[in-house]
Amino acid sequence: MSLEVKAEGLWKHYGDKVVLKGITYRFNARRVYALLGPNGSGKTTLLRLLALLEEPSRGRILYLRDGRALRADMALRRSICMVLSEPALFNTTVLGNVLYGLRLRGLRRRQASHMALEALARLGLQDKARQRALTLSSGEAQRLALARALAVQPQVLFLDEPTASVDEENSQAIEEIIASVGRHCTVIFSTHDIGQAHRLADVLLRLKEGRLLEDE
Ligand SMILES: Nc1ncnc2c1ncn2[C@@H]1O[C@H](COP(=O)(O)OP(=O)(O)OP(=O)(O)O)[C@@H](O)[C@H]1O
Ligand SMILES: [Mg+2]
Repeated sequence: MSLEVKAEGLWKHYGDKVVLKGITYRFNARRVYALLGPNGSGKTTLLRLLALLEEPSRGRILYLRDGRALRADMALRRSICMVLSEPALFNTTVLGNVLYGLRLRGLRRRQASHMALEALARLGLQDKARQRALTLSSGEAQRLALARALAVQPQVLFLDEPTASVDEENSQAIEEIIASVGRHCTVIFSTHDIGQAHRLADVLLRLKEGRLLEDE
């Protein structure tokens, strides 16, 4: 039941600035991909396109199950998740942020609460469940965004610099989570930390001048 993601001839430009130049790539199911590249090389842009949050200028994204392309409907969108490096949190409690996506997917309050608290515990945030999300530190906010994503058990998970403002201990916890999530779903994450890329990824990808290259 796992999903593959295929980019076909993806171009993206903003005005006359061309960010992505015809990217074609197939992301296999149950693999972890690290996306490297300097500031401004298009990592976040590519992740946003792959996660269907933004339209390419040209080309397309396909999601495949057992080799068959799926329609980009609500059910598909609910099985993919993207965590931004500076996540937009809802102005409610920490717990409320995690509950939201679960309730949206039709889970009953009790089960949703159970799953939400479990996800918060994985990220070391159980003691902050009642705190207002907007009062969290940036590292805590980043961990909350990951908890929120994990709670809905996505089949494809996109992470934009998942440990960018997280301390060493929590970075290690996040890396362990990424490794374990990667065993049963497709994970594509961007990073500037080459060590992290090597530790976690099955495949290292690099964006260079608008093109996507696989590291040897
Ligand atoms: N909405 C937008 N309008 C105009 N330009 C944009 C927009 N979004 C991104 N860009 C430009 O596209 C280029 C790629 O940006 P992107 O955020 O994808 O880079 P990145 O590889 O994620 O960089 P970083 O490592 O700094 O996060 C940058 O030059 C950026 O200024
Ligand atoms: Mg970025």
